[in-house]
Amino acid sequence: MKISKYVSKPMDDNGQIAWSESEHAVWHKLVTRQLSCIKGKACQEYFDGLDMLSLPTDNAPQVSDINRVLMQSTGWQLEAVPALIDFDKFFALLADRKFPVATFLRTEDDFDYLQEPDFFHEVFGHCAMLTHPAFASFTHHYGNLGLNASKAERVYLARLYWFTVEFGLIENTSGRSIYGGGILSSPAETEYAFASSEPVRKWLDVLDVMRTPYRIDILQPLYYC
Ligand SMILES: [Fe+2]
Repeated sequence: MKISKYVSKPMDDNGQIAWSESEHAVWHKLVTRQLSCIKGKACQEYFDGLDMLSLPTDNAPQVSDINRVLMQSTGWQLEAVPALIDFDKFFALLADRKFPVATFLRTEDDFDYLQEPDFFHEVFGHCAMLTHPAFASFTHHYGNLGLNASKAERVYLARLYWFTVEFGLIENTSGRSIYGGGILSSPAETEYAFASSEPVRKWLDVLDVMRTPYRIDILQPLYYC
């Protein structure tokens, strides 16, 4: 297993993390850049969720503030976890309507690109959609499936998650939009997934998705809509 150079910051009993000044500054830069990048590209459900969350732009948010909104909208909660967790823990948390969030922020060196999911990715990428009842219900159901799945079945489930929750697109009569958190937390991938003619875009077919391996270290060559 890959060892992370990052360590999650401790959260106190009130759900507060003692973010440093430099972490607040990194959050500010990440969130302002990404807010302008997703304009006209993210789906309406995502923007509605972002409105409900009203994430701060000047300082890194606190888990307790996000949890208040998630609890009211769909009954979900964020659960602070170490930088990396195993599949057993991951599925068990989702099955309990808890979304795992590593409580570390990338440093300036990793500003544009980071393979492991940091606090910005988890919060900005995923929390808005978790306020949406259908999406929240899908994620809960997904957790239950994973909890009871074999190791081999989990490989297929991981692909389903990757191509929907992380890298899913929507195509409908209003055009194309993005709901995948892996896309929406990355400026390069947002532009590429939305506008480039390079990647293949296919209609989502669950069997097809489950038969399709993916790579985590490149812009995706394929998106499902
Ligand atoms: Fe993610």
